[in-house]
Amino acid sequence: MIFSLSVPFRVFRAIRGSSGGAVRARKATHVIPSLVATLFACAQIQAQTPSLKDAFAGAFKIGAALNVNQFSGVDARGAALVKAQFNTISPENVLKWEVVHPRPGVYDFTQSDRFVAFGEANGMFIVGHTLVWHSQVPRWVFQDSAGKPLTRDALLARMRDHIQTVVGRYKGRIKGWDVVNEALNEDGTLRHSPWQTIIGDDYIEKAFEFAHEADPSAELYYNDYNLEFPAKRAGVVALVRKLKREGITITAVGSQTHDKLAFPTPARLDSTITALAATGVKVNVTELDVDVLPSVTQNRTADVGLSVRANSSVNPYPDSLPAAVQQQLAKRYADIFRVLLAHRGTVDRVTFWGVGDGDSWLNNWPVRGRTSYPLLFDRADQPKPAFDAVIRVARPPHA
Ligand code: GLA
Repeated sequence: MIFSLSVPFRVFRAIRGSSGGAVRARKATHVIPSLVATLFACAQIQAQTPSLKDAFAGAFKIGAALNVNQFSGVDARGAALVKAQFNTISPENVLKWEVVHPRPGVYDFTQSDRFVAFGEANGMFIVGHTLVWHSQVPRWVFQDSAGKPLTRDALLARMRDHIQTVVGRYKGRIKGWDVVNEALNEDGTLRHSPWQTIIGDDYIEKAFEFAHEADPSAELYYNDYNLEFPAKRAGVVALVRKLKREGITITAVGSQTHDKLAFPTPARLDSTITALAATGVKVNVTELDVDVLPSVTQNRTADVGLSVRANSSVNPYPDSLPAAVQQQLAKRYADIFRVLLAHRGTVDRVTFWGVGDGDSWLNNWPVRGRTSYPLLFDRADQPKPAFDAVIRVARPPHA
C-alpha cells in the first residue's frame, strides 16, 4: 500500500527536480515544456493516488489551510496536491485583519482574491478565517487618531465596517466564516481582549450579527483550541447556548484540534465532540495537526502569542523522522479519524493546518526553527505512512 502510493510522487519529484525549481528564472520557451511536464505529473498523481476527499466523501469535507505560494501558483507541486486531495480550503493568513485591513480605511484584497479564485476554479468549499480575533490585528484598530482607546460605539462601528466590507466582498462565494476566534480563557471565562474590554461581553453577539447581516446565507462559526479540557469546553457550550437563546445565527463550533501524539486520548476527543454537538450545532475540526516534538510549555496551549527560547534538545529530528515515530504518528492519525468518522453528520468538515510538513506553523511555534512533522504529507509533498493509515480508516481493506 505504502509503496504503491508513493510511486507517482517519486515520478513527480523526478520531473519537478529537473524543471520546477528554476522555472521562474528561465526564458518562456523553457517554461512551457516544464509546465506541460508538471501538468502531466499532476494528472498522474490524481489518477493513481487515493484522495482524502474521495475516501471521506459522504462523511465530511476534508481540507487544508493554504499559504500564498500554494494558491497563487508559485508552489505548483503544492497546488496540485491540494487540488487532488482536498475539497475545502482555509486561508492560513490572508484574511486575518493585519493583512486584509492593514491601515484605517485601507483594505488590501490582493491575496484573498487569489485565494477565493483558486477555490472557485477548483469547486472547493471556501472558508474565511478570521473576522474578530485578539491576535494578528493591528493596534490602531483599538485606538482613535490620537492614540487613545476607542469608545464602545466607535469600536463597534469599526468592527461592523470591517465585517461588512470583508464578508460583503465575498458574499455567496466564501461559504463559511470563523466569526470570532479564541475568545475564551482556559477556565472558560471570556478573555480580556481589547474587543471585550472596550465593547463588553456582547462583542461576540455583535460580530455574529454583523456577519449574518453581510451574508445571510453564510455559515458562521465560533473557533477555539483546547476544547478537550472540561472547563474551556463548558465555556464554549455555555456561549453557544447563549447565542442560540438570543436567536443569533451560529452554524458550528470550530475545534482547532492542535494535537500531540498522546493528547487528547481518542475517548476525550469523542466526548468533546459529543458535548459540543449537544448544543445543537455542527462541530468542525478546523486546524488539525499532530505535534511529535517535545513540549516546551507546562500547559497545553495553541496561543500564537507564545514564544519560547530553547536549546537544541527540543529539536530531536532535524534530518528525518525515525521510523518508530513515523508509525506512532500513523497510528495516532488513524485513532483520530476513527473517532471523527464515528461522528459523521456531526462533524461536517476536517481541515488540516497546512499541507506538507515544511509548511506547518509548528516549525516556528512555540520555538523558532524546529523541524516538525505534524501533517500527512512530508516536506516533498509525498504521502507519509499517516496518510495511508487515514485512507485505510475510510476504506478498511476487508470492508
Ligand atoms: C491559531 C489561529 C490560526 C493560526 C494558528 C497557527 O490556531 O486560529 O489562524 O494562526 O493559530 O498558525
